[in-house]
Amino acid sequence: MKNIFPIIILFLLSSCQSSQNKNTDNQQKTTALNYTYANRFENLLNYPVNPNKIPRGIDKNFKKMKTSKSPTWTSGFFAGNLWLIYELTNDKRFKDRALEWTKIVEIEKYNDEHHDIGFKIYNSFGHAYKNIQNEEYSNVIITAAKTLTNRYDDNIKAIQSWNAKEGKWDYPVIIDNMMNLELLFEATRITQDSTFHHVAVNHANTTLKNHFRKDHSTYHVVDYNPDGSVKAKKTHQGYNDSSAWARGQAWAVYGYTMAYRYTKNEAYLAQAEQTARFYLSHENLPQDGIPYWDFDDPDIPQAPKDVSASTIMASGFYELYEFTDNKTYLDYANKVLETLKQPEYLLDKSVEAPFILNRSTGNYNKNSEIDCPIVYADYYFLEALTSKDEI
Ligand code: GLY
Repeated sequence: MKNIFPIIILFLLSSCQSSQNKNTDNQQKTTALNYTYANRFENLLNYPVNPNKIPRGIDKNFKKMKTSKSPTWTSGFFAGNLWLIYELTNDKRFKDRALEWTKIVEIEKYNDEHHDIGFKIYNSFGHAYKNIQNEEYSNVIITAAKTLTNRYDDNIKAIQSWNAKEGKWDYPVIIDNMMNLELLFEATRITQDSTFHHVAVNHANTTLKNHFRKDHSTYHVVDYNPDGSVKAKKTHQGYNDSSAWARGQAWAVYGYTMAYRYTKNEAYLAQAEQTARFYLSHENLPQDGIPYWDFDDPDIPQAPKDVSASTIMASGFYELYEFTDNKTYLDYANKVLETLKQPEYLLDKSVEAPFILNRSTGNYNKNSEIDCPIVYADYYFLEALTSKDEI
């Protein structure tokens, strides 16, 4: 999730005339958005608020909703989607509903059972705080950041993603974990307490050292020994240990671009660019820009696609473009947003479910959420739309 404070300052500094132009631009943008996605947005708004049924996805045939409770890693995205629609449209109904869903995940600020607290709290309360400068919300962010640091080990210099599992791993760190660092960086920005920043930087450095292959693709899981040495490099959600799981590549690019935003460490930017190049130049990346779930699945081109990887990557690329001025990233992000307007990917308006996009793949290896709508694909899609100049 990106920070809007610089946008607010720029806005205050701008002249009356340019603010009138901006208002006209925003109105045009909102009108275009309403035209393309309005009915899908209403489906999100109208979905009944229920702490035991937080929308996560629907099956491939659009018959069965998949919902979760707050401990699940995806629980903050639905609130985030409503916040993002509010940020895109300025329609207050979405803000009110976003707040209701946001409060449901507050309890997760104490949950240190896994690393996903960043996804849950920052993608919900982060928006609440951004839009309503309220100490109640910043306190949730700070408490959650403290909870996340419970999973940090200073010998290993990384946050443990999942708990140890006998015969499987001891101290697994997954590339997705880079995304949770935003919660820590923001906690330091709010409190000026550098402890959170320090943990985030150490985690990013350890991941930089151990997670990337020579071709700059990323492993999914690195398992550590207590002294910080690497025990194993493997996959959990990819095709095999040496394959390039598409969403993992997107977490890496977005994660290191975001980490660069807070640190200005050139090594982070270089890693984001190298992994971006791996992804963009891969022979198995389809022309329409939407990757298969894993670049190494031998079933390609029959393998399922993963829209979520493309939306995470597109949102990350809008920011990477800002830092590098390399138009390749802008072009890819714009292409993805264009592609996703096509009926193949945009959920048909007859489907009454609180989602926008189709054709994501959650966990292929567990035969779970394959080629269907998934809440986090929508989140990064909406976030990418907030970065795009024209819709
Ligand atoms: N963090 C889990 C996933 O990307 O599926």
